[in-house]
Amino acid sequence: MYLTKEQFEKYTDQGFVLLTECFSKTEVNGLKVELPSLFRKETSGRVFEEESNIVRAVHGSHKTNEVFQRLSRNPRLVEPPMQLLGSKVYIYQFKINAKAAFRGNIWEWHQDYIFWRKEDRLPTARVVNALVLLDDMNEFNGPLFVIPGSHKEGMIDVVAQNTSNRAKDERERPAWISNFTAKLKYSLNQELVTNLVLKYGILSIKASAGSVLFFNSNLVHASPSNISPFNRSVAIVTYNSVDNIPLPVQNPRPEFIVSRDYRPVEPLSKDALLIENLM
Ligand code: SIN
Ligand code: MN
Repeated sequence: MYLTKEQFEKYTDQGFVLLTECFSKTEVNGLKVELPSLFRKETSGRVFEEESNIVRAVHGSHKTNEVFQRLSRNPRLVEPPMQLLGSKVYIYQFKINAKAAFRGNIWEWHQDYIFWRKEDRLPTARVVNALVLLDDMNEFNGPLFVIPGSHKEGMIDVVAQNTSNRAKDERERPAWISNFTAKLKYSLNQELVTNLVLKYGILSIKASAGSVLFFNSNLVHASPSNISPFNRSVAIVTYNSVDNIPLPVQNPRPEFIVSRDYRPVEPLSKDALLIENLM
């Protein structure tokens, strides 16, 4: 599935495009039934909300779970990034953000590319995020906020925060965690966000489960906490151009955060189902 000219232009101009009802209710249910066991599984890629046993995110499920693997190869997700980047793509990162009812905490204002540039030496921002809504996202359950057009600023080079060089801390909390907690390492300060919002405006993304948001890795975004009784889970697949392989780094982040499997994604056939046993 390729973007129409209007959708392509919307992405180029605004830094994102929302495709509503990309996946059917049956497909979404097929993904959601996998979540409890993925959240229960003790894996290194699992992140909890601060001082709690509520799962905030799980990484790399496309490698461990057949249904999410099929999602990551579905042409509805893979072809728009190929079209936008003008090349084949591979999966750079795969995460599920849980944003649990009553408990899901904020994501501070940030751009994604700066993390990948500073931590992984990703040469350029030729990366597309595909965010799949696994629940309806509404004004109550911590929707994604975006500053439309802010990707045109390029990477805003902010100073890293919340870094700790205490060895004890490193043992208890691996360094990569500070890119996934409510206190982000490269968050944008209030003055920067105020000026960007004055310049470009602000939007919240509201859509039903099964919709997909494609967004630019320099788009400034955030989300508030979820104090509603509604879960707000999303799967985010980050596709990188095969022409944009990260340069070598001294201490590479774990494979479940930044994949070093650079083989291009082979999209499944147009009619392939997410869930095999529905056939
Ligand atoms: C969110 O899940 O609301 C934030 C996602 C992100 O920043 O990638
Ligand atoms: Mn982000």
